[in-house]
Amino acid sequence: MHIAITGGAGFIGRHVAAQLVDAGHTVIALDSLLDQVHADPMADADAFPGRVVKGDILDESAWAELGEAEGLIHLAAETGTGQSMYEQDRYRRVNVDGTRRAAQFAVEHDIPIVSLSSRAVYGEGRTLWPDRGIVFGERRGPGAVAEASRESDEHHPVSVYGETKSEAEAVLSKTTANRVPSAIIRPQNVIGYGQALHNPYTGVLAAFLARLREGRAISIYGDGLQTRDFVHVSDVARVIAWALQHCADTGEDIVVNTGSGERITLLDLAHFAIDASGRTDVAIEHVDVERAGDIQDAAADLTRLRELGGPMPAVSPRDAVADFIQSSWQQPGADSTVWDDALDELQDKGLTS
Ligand SMILES: NC(=O)c1ccc[n+]([C@@H]2O[C@H](COP(=O)([O-])OP(=O)(O)OC[C@H]3O[C@@H](n4cnc5c(N)ncnc54)[C@H](O)[C@@H]3O)[C@@H](O)[C@H]2O)c1
Repeated sequence: MHIAITGGAGFIGRHVAAQLVDAGHTVIALDSLLDQVHADPMADADAFPGRVVKGDILDESAWAELGEAEGLIHLAAETGTGQSMYEQDRYRRVNVDGTRRAAQFAVEHDIPIVSLSSRAVYGEGRTLWPDRGIVFGERRGPGAVAEASRESDEHHPVSVYGETKSEAEAVLSKTTANRVPSAIIRPQNVIGYGQALHNPYTGVLAAFLARLREGRAISIYGDGLQTRDFVHVSDVARVIAWALQHCADTGEDIVVNTGSGERITLLDLAHFAIDASGRTDVAIEHVDVERAGDIQDAAADLTRLRELGGPMPAVSPRDAVADFIQSSWQQPGADSTVWDDALDELQDKGLTS
Protein backbone atom coordinates (compact mmCIF):
# COMPACT_ATOMS: atom_id res chain seq x y z
CA MET A 1 0.00 0.00 0.00
CA HIS A 2 1.13 3.60 -0.59
CA ILE A 3 0.36 5.41 2.69
CA ALA A 4 0.22 9.14 3.41
CA ILE A 5 1.07 10.20 6.97
CA THR A 6 0.31 13.68 8.29
CA GLY A 7 2.75 14.62 11.04
CA GLY A 8 4.92 11.82 9.68
CA ALA A 9 8.21 13.50 10.63
CA GLY A 10 7.14 13.59 14.28
CA PHE A 11 7.96 11.14 17.06
CA ILE A 12 5.24 8.54 16.46
CA GLY A 13 5.19 9.19 12.70
CA ARG A 14 8.81 8.19 12.17
CA HIS A 15 8.29 4.92 14.08
CA VAL A 16 5.07 4.05 12.21
CA ALA A 17 6.68 4.86 8.88
CA ALA A 18 9.70 2.65 9.60
CA GLN A 19 7.43 -0.27 10.55
CA LEU A 20 5.28 0.20 7.43
CA VAL A 21 8.31 0.31 5.13
CA ASP A 22 9.74 -2.82 6.81
CA ALA A 23 6.43 -4.52 6.03
CA GLY A 24 6.74 -3.62 2.32
CA HIS A 25 4.62 -0.45 2.12
CA THR A 26 5.69 2.95 0.78
CA VAL A 27 5.09 6.21 2.67
CA ILE A 28 4.85 9.96 2.09
CA ALA A 29 4.50 12.60 4.82
CA LEU A 30 2.77 15.95 5.08
CA ASP A 31 4.39 17.83 7.94
CA SER A 32 4.97 21.49 8.79
CA LEU A 33 8.18 20.56 10.68
CA LEU A 34 7.02 22.75 13.55
CA ASP A 35 9.93 24.52 15.31
CA GLN A 36 8.61 23.69 18.78
CA VAL A 37 8.85 19.97 18.00
CA HIS A 38 11.82 19.77 15.67
CA ALA A 39 15.16 21.08 16.95
CA ASP A 40 16.71 19.87 13.68
CA PRO A 41 13.85 19.75 11.15
CA MET A 42 16.02 18.54 8.26
CA ALA A 43 17.42 15.62 10.30
CA ASP A 44 13.88 14.58 11.29
CA ALA A 45 12.68 14.85 7.70
CA ASP A 46 15.67 12.77 6.57
CA ALA A 47 14.84 10.14 9.18
CA PHE A 48 11.42 9.64 7.56
CA PRO A 49 11.74 6.75 5.07
CA GLY A 50 9.94 8.48 2.23
CA ARG A 51 9.29 11.93 0.80
CA VAL A 52 8.29 14.69 3.24
CA VAL A 53 6.01 17.38 1.80
CA LYS A 54 6.64 20.40 4.01
CA GLY A 55 3.38 22.21 4.53
CA ASP A 56 0.62 23.12 6.89
CA ILE A 57 -2.27 20.75 7.49
CA LEU A 58 -4.66 23.33 6.00
CA ASP A 59 -2.48 24.12 2.99
CA GLU A 60 -4.27 22.78 -0.11
CA SER A 61 -1.13 22.77 -2.24
CA ALA A 62 0.56 20.46 0.28
CA TRP A 63 -2.35 17.98 0.14
CA ALA A 64 -2.24 18.11 -3.67
CA GLU A 65 1.41 16.98 -3.59
CA LEU A 66 0.54 13.74 -1.77
CA GLY A 67 -0.77 12.15 -4.97
CA GLU A 68 -2.65 8.85 -5.01
CA ALA A 69 -2.37 7.41 -1.52
CA GLU A 70 -4.18 4.16 -0.68
CA GLY A 71 -4.41 4.85 3.04
CA LEU A 72 -4.09 7.89 5.32
CA ILE A 73 -2.66 8.05 8.83
CA HIS A 74 -3.42 11.38 10.47
CA LEU A 75 -0.98 12.26 13.25
CA ALA A 76 -0.36 16.00 12.76
CA ALA A 77 -1.40 17.90 15.88
CA GLU A 78 -0.47 20.49 18.44
CA THR A 79 0.22 18.40 21.53
CA GLY A 80 1.05 20.57 24.57
CA THR A 81 -1.63 20.20 27.23
CA GLY A 82 -0.65 23.25 29.31
CA GLN A 83 0.08 25.39 26.25
CA SER A 84 -3.35 24.58 24.82
CA MET A 85 -4.93 26.46 27.73
CA TYR A 86 -3.66 29.80 26.43
CA GLU A 87 -3.17 29.07 22.69
CA GLN A 88 -6.73 27.89 22.12
CA ASP A 89 -7.24 29.12 18.55
CA ARG A 90 -3.97 27.61 17.42
CA TYR A 91 -4.91 24.22 18.94
CA ARG A 92 -8.46 24.24 17.50
CA ARG A 93 -7.23 25.19 14.04
CA VAL A 94 -4.68 22.39 13.76
CA ASN A 95 -6.39 19.66 15.77
CA VAL A 96 -10.05 20.10 14.78
CA ASP A 97 -9.93 21.84 11.37
CA GLY A 98 -6.84 19.83 10.45
CA THR A 99 -8.64 16.56 11.22
CA ARG A 100 -11.63 17.72 9.14
CA ARG A 101 -9.29 18.31 6.19
CA ALA A 102 -7.65 14.91 6.66
CA ALA A 103 -11.07 13.20 6.77
CA GLN A 104 -12.11 15.03 3.59
CA PHE A 105 -8.92 13.85 1.85
CA ALA A 106 -9.76 10.25 2.78
CA VAL A 107 -13.29 10.66 1.39
CA GLU A 108 -12.08 12.36 -1.80
CA HIS A 109 -9.63 9.51 -2.44
CA ASP A 110 -11.94 6.76 -1.14
CA ILE A 111 -9.28 5.41 1.23
CA PRO A 112 -9.29 4.26 4.87
CA ILE A 113 -8.10 6.72 7.51
CA VAL A 114 -6.51 6.16 10.92
CA SER A 115 -6.61 9.25 13.13
CA LEU A 116 -4.79 9.74 16.42
CA SER A 117 -6.92 11.00 19.24
CA SER A 118 -5.75 10.83 22.85
CA ARG A 119 -6.49 9.54 26.31
CA ALA A 120 -7.05 13.22 27.11
CA VAL A 121 -10.66 12.85 25.91
CA TYR A 122 -11.42 10.91 29.13
CA GLY A 123 -10.08 13.62 31.47
CA GLU A 124 -10.15 12.12 34.96
CA GLY A 125 -11.66 8.99 33.44
CA ARG A 126 -13.53 6.20 35.24
CA THR A 127 -13.60 5.81 39.02
CA LEU A 128 -15.46 3.29 41.19
CA TRP A 129 -16.91 4.78 44.39
CA PRO A 130 -18.17 2.75 47.36
CA ASP A 131 -21.45 4.68 47.52
CA ARG A 132 -21.93 5.99 43.96
CA GLY A 133 -20.76 3.16 41.70
CA ILE A 134 -19.01 4.17 38.46
CA VAL A 135 -18.43 7.90 38.03
CA PHE A 136 -16.80 9.60 35.01
CA GLY A 137 -14.69 12.72 34.98
CA GLU A 138 -14.16 13.24 38.71
CA ARG A 139 -11.02 12.86 40.75
CA ARG A 140 -11.13 9.82 42.97
CA GLY A 141 -12.12 10.73 46.52
CA PRO A 142 -11.87 8.71 49.76
CA GLY A 143 -12.53 5.02 49.13
CA ALA A 144 -12.81 5.46 45.36
CA VAL A 145 -10.66 3.45 42.97
CA ALA A 146 -9.38 4.57 39.56
CA GLU A 147 -10.37 2.13 36.82
CA ALA A 148 -8.97 1.80 33.30
CA SER A 149 -10.86 3.85 30.69
CA ARG A 150 -12.99 2.02 28.12
CA GLU A 151 -13.71 3.38 24.65
CA SER A 152 -17.43 3.72 25.46
CA ASP A 153 -16.73 5.93 28.50
CA GLU A 154 -17.97 9.51 28.62
CA HIS A 155 -15.65 12.29 27.43
CA HIS A 156 -14.67 14.75 30.16
CA PRO A 157 -11.58 16.55 28.85
CA VAL A 158 -10.01 18.99 31.30
CA SER A 159 -7.66 20.71 28.85
CA VAL A 160 -8.25 22.53 25.59
CA TYR A 161 -5.99 19.89 24.00
CA GLY A 162 -8.39 17.19 25.24
CA GLU A 163 -11.39 19.19 24.02
CA THR A 164 -9.88 19.52 20.56
CA LYS A 165 -9.20 15.78 20.42
CA SER A 166 -12.79 15.02 21.43
CA GLU A 167 -14.17 17.48 18.84
CA ALA A 168 -11.82 16.07 16.21
CA GLU A 169 -13.20 12.56 16.82
CA ALA A 170 -16.74 13.81 16.20
CA VAL A 171 -15.70 15.70 13.07
CA LEU A 172 -13.86 12.66 11.73
CA SER A 173 -16.81 10.35 12.31
CA LYS A 174 -19.30 12.76 10.76
CA THR A 175 -17.14 13.37 7.69
CA THR A 176 -16.31 9.74 6.97
CA ALA A 177 -19.49 7.90 8.12
CA ASN A 178 -20.81 5.51 5.46
CA ARG A 179 -18.16 6.78 3.05
CA VAL A 180 -14.76 5.39 4.07
CA PRO A 181 -13.68 3.20 7.00
CA SER A 182 -12.00 4.98 9.89
CA ALA A 183 -10.04 4.11 13.01
CA ILE A 184 -9.74 6.44 15.97
CA ILE A 185 -6.85 5.56 18.28
CA ARG A 186 -6.54 6.92 21.81
CA PRO A 187 -2.97 6.47 23.05
CA GLN A 188 -1.90 6.93 26.65
CA ASN A 189 1.54 8.51 27.33
CA VAL A 190 3.82 7.37 24.51
CA ILE A 191 7.56 7.13 25.21
CA GLY A 192 10.66 5.98 23.36
CA TYR A 193 13.59 6.98 21.23
CA GLY A 194 13.05 10.07 19.11
CA GLN A 195 10.62 11.98 21.30
CA ALA A 196 11.38 15.70 21.45
CA LEU A 197 14.05 16.43 24.08
CA HIS A 198 13.73 20.20 23.98
CA ASN A 199 9.96 20.76 23.87
CA PRO A 200 8.94 21.81 27.40
CA TYR A 201 5.24 21.62 26.56
CA THR A 202 5.09 17.81 26.38
CA GLY A 203 6.79 14.79 27.88
CA VAL A 204 7.47 14.55 31.61
CA LEU A 205 10.11 11.92 30.90
CA ALA A 206 12.15 14.31 28.73
CA ALA A 207 12.21 16.68 31.72
CA PHE A 208 13.43 13.84 33.96
CA LEU A 209 16.15 12.98 31.42
CA ALA A 210 17.39 16.57 31.32
CA ARG A 211 17.66 16.70 35.11
CA LEU A 212 19.34 13.29 35.35
CA ARG A 213 21.96 14.31 32.81
CA GLU A 214 22.71 17.44 34.84
CA GLY A 215 22.69 15.56 38.16
CA ARG A 216 19.85 17.84 39.25
CA ALA A 217 17.03 16.56 41.49
CA ILE A 218 14.03 15.19 39.57
CA SER A 219 11.06 17.46 40.05
CA ILE A 220 7.58 16.02 40.61
CA TYR A 221 4.53 18.26 40.79
CA GLY A 222 2.49 17.16 43.80
CA ASP A 223 2.86 13.92 45.78
CA GLY A 224 3.82 11.77 42.76
CA LEU A 225 0.96 9.35 43.40
CA GLN A 226 -0.79 10.46 40.22
CA THR A 227 -1.08 7.40 37.96
CA ARG A 228 -0.32 7.04 34.27
CA ASP A 229 0.02 4.40 31.59
CA PHE A 230 3.35 4.75 29.75
CA VAL A 231 3.39 2.80 26.51
CA HIS A 232 6.39 2.21 24.26
CA VAL A 233 6.22 3.90 20.88
CA SER A 234 6.87 0.61 19.05
CA ASP A 235 3.68 -0.84 20.58
CA VAL A 236 1.66 2.22 19.53
CA ALA A 237 3.13 2.10 16.01
CA ARG A 238 2.06 -1.55 15.69
CA VAL A 239 -1.50 -0.67 16.68
CA ILE A 240 -1.62 2.14 14.10
CA ALA A 241 -0.33 -0.09 11.29
CA TRP A 242 -2.71 -2.88 12.29
CA ALA A 243 -5.68 -0.47 12.44
CA LEU A 244 -5.11 0.75 8.88
CA GLN A 245 -4.97 -2.82 7.58
CA HIS A 246 -8.01 -3.78 9.68
CA CYS A 247 -10.06 -0.90 8.23
CA ALA A 248 -8.92 -1.70 4.68
CA ASP A 249 -9.75 -5.41 5.09
CA THR A 250 -13.08 -5.16 6.95
CA GLY A 251 -14.48 -1.72 6.01
CA GLU A 252 -15.30 -1.29 9.72
CA ASP A 253 -15.11 1.90 11.77
CA ILE A 254 -13.31 1.33 15.06
CA VAL A 255 -12.29 3.28 18.17
CA VAL A 256 -9.50 1.73 20.25
CA ASN A 257 -7.33 2.59 23.20
CA THR A 258 -3.64 1.85 23.19
CA GLY A 259 -1.54 1.66 26.31
CA SER A 260 0.84 -0.62 28.18
CA GLY A 261 -1.92 -2.34 30.14
CA GLU A 262 -0.12 -1.30 33.37
CA ARG A 263 -0.77 1.64 35.66
CA ILE A 264 2.24 3.22 37.40
CA THR A 265 2.69 6.32 39.56
CA LEU A 266 4.86 9.30 38.66
CA LEU A 267 7.09 8.28 41.55
CA ASP A 268 7.51 4.85 39.92
CA LEU A 269 8.38 6.65 36.69
CA ALA A 270 11.05 8.71 38.45
CA HIS A 271 12.55 5.59 40.04
CA PHE A 272 12.55 3.70 36.72
CA ALA A 273 14.34 6.66 35.11
CA ILE A 274 16.92 6.90 37.91
CA ASP A 275 17.58 3.14 37.75
CA ALA A 276 17.97 3.22 33.97
CA SER A 277 20.39 6.14 34.12
CA GLY A 278 22.52 4.70 36.92
CA ARG A 279 22.38 8.17 38.56
CA THR A 280 21.27 6.85 41.96
CA ASP A 281 22.79 10.00 43.53
CA VAL A 282 19.99 12.10 42.00
CA ALA A 283 17.20 12.94 44.44
CA ILE A 284 13.47 13.38 43.85
CA GLU A 285 11.96 16.71 44.89
CA HIS A 286 8.28 17.52 45.19
CA VAL A 287 6.98 20.88 44.03
CA ASP A 288 3.65 21.91 45.50
CA VAL A 289 2.02 23.04 42.29
CA GLU A 290 -0.79 21.91 40.04
CA ARG A 291 -1.07 22.95 36.40
CA ALA A 292 -4.39 23.62 34.71
CA GLY A 293 -5.19 20.65 32.49
CA ASP A 294 -3.36 18.09 34.66
CA ILE A 295 -5.25 15.01 35.81
CA GLN A 296 -4.91 12.57 38.69
CA ASP A 297 -5.30 9.18 37.04
CA ALA A 298 -5.07 7.62 33.60
CA ALA A 299 -4.85 4.09 32.24
CA ALA A 300 -6.24 2.26 29.22
CA ASP A 301 -8.54 -0.74 29.16
CA LEU A 302 -7.28 -2.84 26.22
CA THR A 303 -10.20 -5.28 26.06
CA ARG A 304 -11.59 -3.91 22.81
CA LEU A 305 -8.22 -3.94 21.09
CA ARG A 306 -7.78 -7.57 22.15
CA GLU A 307 -11.30 -8.53 20.98
CA LEU A 308 -10.66 -7.00 17.57
CA GLY A 309 -7.45 -9.03 17.23
CA GLY A 310 -5.16 -6.01 17.56
CA PRO A 311 -1.54 -6.31 18.75
CA MET A 312 -1.09 -6.36 22.50
CA PRO A 313 1.74 -4.33 24.08
CA ALA A 314 5.07 -6.14 24.23
CA VAL A 315 7.15 -3.65 26.27
CA SER A 316 6.59 -3.04 30.00
CA PRO A 317 6.66 0.55 31.31
CA ARG A 318 9.94 -0.16 33.15
CA ASP A 319 11.60 -1.42 29.94
CA ALA A 320 10.10 1.43 27.91
CA VAL A 321 11.56 3.99 30.33
CA ALA A 322 14.94 2.24 30.24
CA ASP A 323 14.92 2.23 26.44
CA PHE A 324 14.10 5.94 26.35
CA ILE A 325 16.72 6.96 28.93
CA GLN A 326 19.51 4.87 27.48
CA SER A 327 18.85 5.62 23.81
CA SER A 328 18.38 9.37 24.45
CA TRP A 329 21.27 9.91 26.88
CA GLN A 330 23.76 11.07 24.23
CA GLN A 331 21.20 12.93 22.09
CA PRO A 332 21.10 16.73 22.05
CA GLY A 333 18.34 18.19 24.21
CA ALA A 334 17.37 21.25 26.17
CA ASP A 335 18.68 22.16 29.61
CA SER A 336 16.29 21.34 32.41
CA THR A 337 15.67 25.06 32.92
CA VAL A 338 13.37 25.21 29.88
CA TRP A 339 10.83 23.19 31.87
CA ASP A 340 11.20 25.68 34.75
CA ASP A 341 10.51 28.49 32.27
CA ALA A 342 7.41 26.70 30.93
CA LEU A 343 6.08 26.36 34.49
CA ASP A 344 6.81 30.06 35.15
CA GLU A 345 4.89 30.89 31.97
CA LEU A 346 1.85 28.97 33.24
CA GLN A 347 2.16 30.65 36.64
CA ASP A 348 2.31 34.09 35.01
CA LYS A 349 -0.86 33.31 33.09
CA GLY A 350 -2.66 32.18 36.26
CA LEU A 351 -2.80 28.57 35.07
CA THR A 352 -1.35 26.97 38.19
CA SER A 353 -2.66 26.52 41.72
N1 LIG B 1 3.15 11.23 22.19
C1 LIG B 1 2.12 10.96 23.01
O1 LIG B 1 2.29 10.65 24.20
C2 LIG B 1 0.71 11.00 22.47
C3 LIG B 1 -0.33 10.60 23.32
C4 LIG B 1 -1.64 10.65 22.86
C5 LIG B 1 -1.90 11.08 21.57
N2 LIG B 1 -0.87 11.47 20.76
C6 LIG B 1 -1.19 11.94 19.41
O2 LIG B 1 -0.38 11.27 18.46
C7 LIG B 1 -0.10 12.13 17.36
C8 LIG B 1 1.39 12.19 17.10
O3 LIG B 1 2.03 12.67 18.28
P1 LIG B 1 3.60 12.75 18.44
O4 LIG B 1 3.92 12.39 19.83
O5 LIG B 1 4.29 12.03 17.33
O6 LIG B 1 3.81 14.32 18.30
P2 LIG B 1 4.93 15.14 17.51
O7 LIG B 1 4.76 16.55 17.93
O8 LIG B 1 6.26 14.51 17.62
O9 LIG B 1 4.45 14.98 15.99
C9 LIG B 1 3.42 15.76 15.45
C10 LIG B 1 3.88 16.21 14.07
O10 LIG B 1 2.86 17.06 13.52
C11 LIG B 1 3.49 18.13 12.87
N3 LIG B 1 2.57 19.27 12.85
C12 LIG B 1 2.18 20.05 13.89
N4 LIG B 1 1.37 21.02 13.46
C13 LIG B 1 1.20 20.83 12.12
C14 LIG B 1 0.48 21.52 11.11
N5 LIG B 1 -0.23 22.62 11.38
N6 LIG B 1 0.55 21.05 9.84
C15 LIG B 1 1.29 19.95 9.55
N7 LIG B 1 2.01 19.27 10.46
C16 LIG B 1 1.97 19.71 11.73
C17 LIG B 1 4.74 18.43 13.70
O11 LIG B 1 5.73 19.12 12.94
C18 LIG B 1 5.18 17.05 14.11
O12 LIG B 1 6.12 16.50 13.21
C19 LIG B 1 -0.74 13.47 17.71
O13 LIG B 1 -2.00 13.55 17.09
C20 LIG B 1 -0.89 13.42 19.21
O14 LIG B 1 -1.94 14.25 19.66
C21 LIG B 1 0.43 11.44 21.19
